[in-house]
Amino acid sequence: MDKFNIAIDGPAGAGKSTIARLVAGALGFIYVDTGAMYRAVTWKVQQEGLLPEQETEVATLANRMQIELIPGDEGQQVIVDGVDVTKAIRSSDVTTHVSQIASYGAVRHLLVARQQQMTVSKGVVMDGRDIGTHVMPDAEIKVFLTASVKERAERRFKELENSGTNTLTLSELEQDIARRDQFDEAREISPLRRAHDAVLMDSTSMTIEEVVDEILGLCKDKVGGGK
Ligand code: CDP
Ligand code: CDP
Repeated sequence: MDKFNIAIDGPAGAGKSTIARLVAGALGFIYVDTGAMYRAVTWKVQQEGLLPEQETEVATLANRMQIELIPGDEGQQVIVDGVDVTKAIRSSDVTTHVSQIASYGAVRHLLVARQQQMTVSKGVVMDGRDIGTHVMPDAEIKVFLTASVKERAERRFKELENSGTNTLTLSELEQDIARRDQFDEAREISPLRRAHDAVLMDSTSMTIEEVVDEILGLCKDKVGGGK
């Protein structure tokens, strides 16, 4: 069976990265977390002492920085200009500003072009906000994964508590998620939207395994299974 591409979009904390990584592992495909690229630009902006509002300077910086995504069993490693930023890009400081950086047309244009290059040879599971609508409009499988804000905040809270990196209360996390969703849905360029041909999955009361199985089922139905 020929390789194919899978697009997984949805709001913050819906389970996109976890599920995309497991689906990619099951099919022997490559997993690409596009949010990490917007986070990497945001991290670099902060390192260089730029303000997120400095759109022109931010775009220039994004254009000259190198972002490498290295697939691994534990997820994707992110290297910016030779520095491993895999953990640093998850800081609350980056999370607070990433949606503003991701709203800039020049930044999106640049990153989308890089993302599209990665999908040419197929066998890619890519997650983000505009993958089914913009980055891979021809993806064979498209999923729009969501869950209630409350459930997404609880999941993120547990994740941060378990890794010992939590600095926020559950209610602060819920507010942050709702604010980011609103920003991503309202931006002019490639806002967060369900593609008309994406399958909607509400995972509020689904386990990770159930969502993965459902997506693998879609793959079997549509394209005969993968490898
Ligand atoms: O993992 P989490 O849901 O917290 O977010 P992420 O996937 O790491 O993405 C961080 C931010 O990058 C999002 O809130 C969006 O503002 C932006 N993003 C985007 O605009 N387009 C994408 N394809 C991926 C992420
Ligand atoms: O990438 P995104 O922001 O959409 O979400 P994630 O980082 O993959 O998932 C956020 C947290 O929710 C992780 O700790 C997952 O293990 C958890 N999760 C869950 O408990 N149940 C699901 N059905 C999906 C994700």
